[in-house]
Amino acid sequence: MLKKFEFEYESFTDASALNKEDFDLLDAARKATSTAFAPYSNFKVGAAAKLNTGELITGSNQESASYPVGICAERALLNSIGSQFSHSSVITLAVSYEPVGKASNEPLSPCGMCRQSILDYENRYKAPIRVILAGLEGEVMIFKSGSDLLPFGFNGSILKGLK
Ligand code: THU
Repeated sequence: MLKKFEFEYESFTDASALNKEDFDLLDAARKATSTAFAPYSNFKVGAAAKLNTGELITGSNQESASYPVGICAERALLNSIGSQFSHSSVITLAVSYEPVGKASNEPLSPCGMCRQSILDYENRYKAPIRVILAGLEGEVMIFKSGSDLLPFGFNGSILKGLK
C-alpha cells in the first residue's frame, strides 16, 4: 500500500506581513544573532521563544574550540528555558541567522538535532510549538508544529515500560 504524508505551512514574502506578536518575536531572534559565539563557522544564529506566560526569551549558537561541543541556537534556548522556566511552556519559537559576509534572505532550515529537541519539548508540554523561520530579510515560513519538521520522529513512547 502506498501512503502519502503531507503538511501545510504558511509563507510570507517578508516580515511586514506578520502580526505584531510574530513580528516582534522574529525581530528578537534576528537581534539575538548578535549574541552568538561563532568564531569558527562565522554563522550566527539567533532564536527567540514566546512562553505561555507572555515572556520572550532569546538564545544563540555557542561554539567550542572542540567543534562538536558547540550548541545550536535552538537547543541552547530550549534547554535554557527547560531549566530556568521549568513551569512554563514555549508557544512559538522564531529562528534567524546572520552569516558573516553573506546574504541572509531565505529561511534557515534547522538541523536534525534541533528538530528532535523541538519535538522533545512539544512532548514535554503536550502541546505544539509554532516555528517561525526567516533570514534577516525576505521570506518568512511559519509551521504550526515543530513535529511537522521531523516526520516520523522518535518521540520516546517506545521507551515506556522498559526496565
Ligand atoms: N546552527 C544553529 O545554531 N542552528 C541550526 O539549526 C543549524 C546550525 C549553528 C551551529 C554552528 O554554530 C553554526 O550554526 C554552523 O553550523
